[in-house]
Amino acid sequence: MPLFWRVCLINGAVFLAGTLALALSPATVSRQPLLSEFVVLLFGLTVIVLVNGALLRSLLRPLDRLTAVTTKIDLRYPGLRLDEAASGPARALVRGFNAMLERLEVERSTSTARALQAQEAERQRIAQELHDEVGQSLTAVLLGLRYVKDMAPERVRAELDGLRDTTRTSLEEVRRISQRLRPGDLTDLGLTSALAGLARDTSARNGPQVRRHLPSVVPELPSESELVIYRVAQEALTNVVRHARATAVDLGLAVSGGALELRVADDGVGIREGAMGAGIQGMLERAQMVGGDLVVRATGRAGPGGGPGGTEVLLRLPLSAPQPASVSS
Ligand SMILES: Nc1ncnc2c1ncn2[C@@H]1O[C@H](COP(=O)(O)OP(=O)(O)OP(=O)(O)O)[C@@H](O)[C@H]1O
Ligand SMILES: [Mg+2]
Repeated sequence: MPLFWRVCLINGAVFLAGTLALALSPATVSRQPLLSEFVVLLFGLTVIVLVNGALLRSLLRPLDRLTAVTTKIDLRYPGLRLDEAASGPARALVRGFNAMLERLEVERSTSTARALQAQEAERQRIAQELHDEVGQSLTAVLLGLRYVKDMAPERVRAELDGLRDTTRTSLEEVRRISQRLRPGDLTDLGLTSALAGLARDTSARNGPQVRRHLPSVVPELPSESELVIYRVAQEALTNVVRHARATAVDLGLAVSGGALELRVADDGVGIREGAMGAGIQGMLERAQMVGGDLVVRATGRAGPGGGPGGTEVLLRLPLSAPQPASVSS
């Protein structure tokens, strides 16, 4: 029954009860009401208001809970639902609300998966072009310089050597960027080697010392999950280099409690509460996409390098029921 009719029914029933009580009881009201009659009237009115209030309260309480939940809803943290069974007469409304949340969450996770897929495809394309176009051109320049050097007069040879060194450095940089964009190691050598490569890369970029705790054997995972682990580790390590001012960082991968855990913990300044940019947002969305969850928190204790505090990124992927959305590697 619609809520409006329920309220009408409750009010009607209470007023009917009041009228019947008045009609059937010996109570009367004089033309000039006496004090004792006022007391009876006041008592009757109080009973009517209390009974009406109690009935309406049980009817409308689920609406208050609904309002409280709507202020807390954040689609980045899915799974919040109202208890339908405890919603009494507002059950239909709560059921509709829960169904709406379900649809919104599905829609959000599909569009996130699509966006991340597009991002991966774009990264692959740029990596390919860097490798094929810029990389080839720089290789041609290197060969040309070597050829020219053989014919060049002695006085310009040192200059040509300098140019070759610069070109070689640029070529390595292009390869490195291309590698970061398209983690070839992941498909060729596997997750552990790809993570080890990231660790090496981080230390090589004047970053903190990376202490690896990587197992030699990792449970078999869908390629989507491996890509998520890789990208989360990549972003977490990039954040350490950019923001943490850390001297050391632990990069660990381990099976614990039926889940695969990736842990990146630094001994830097510690993350501010509620800090969130596109990087952390992306990590959260990727984790959700493969049915995992991710926590980024300040540890508040000195880490391996004895810094003032630290930040920990913990990704947990359940091993029993991975549900990867489609995202290509
Ligand atoms: N390891 C860390 N130590 C200290 N602060 C951190 C760390 N990681 C993140 N932060 C803080 O959290 C903020 C948000 O990080 P996030 O990765 O989301 O965005 P960002 O790195 O600033 O930009 P980008 O979108 O390029 O990743 C950072 O600006 C930084 O202040
Ligand atoms: Mg970042």
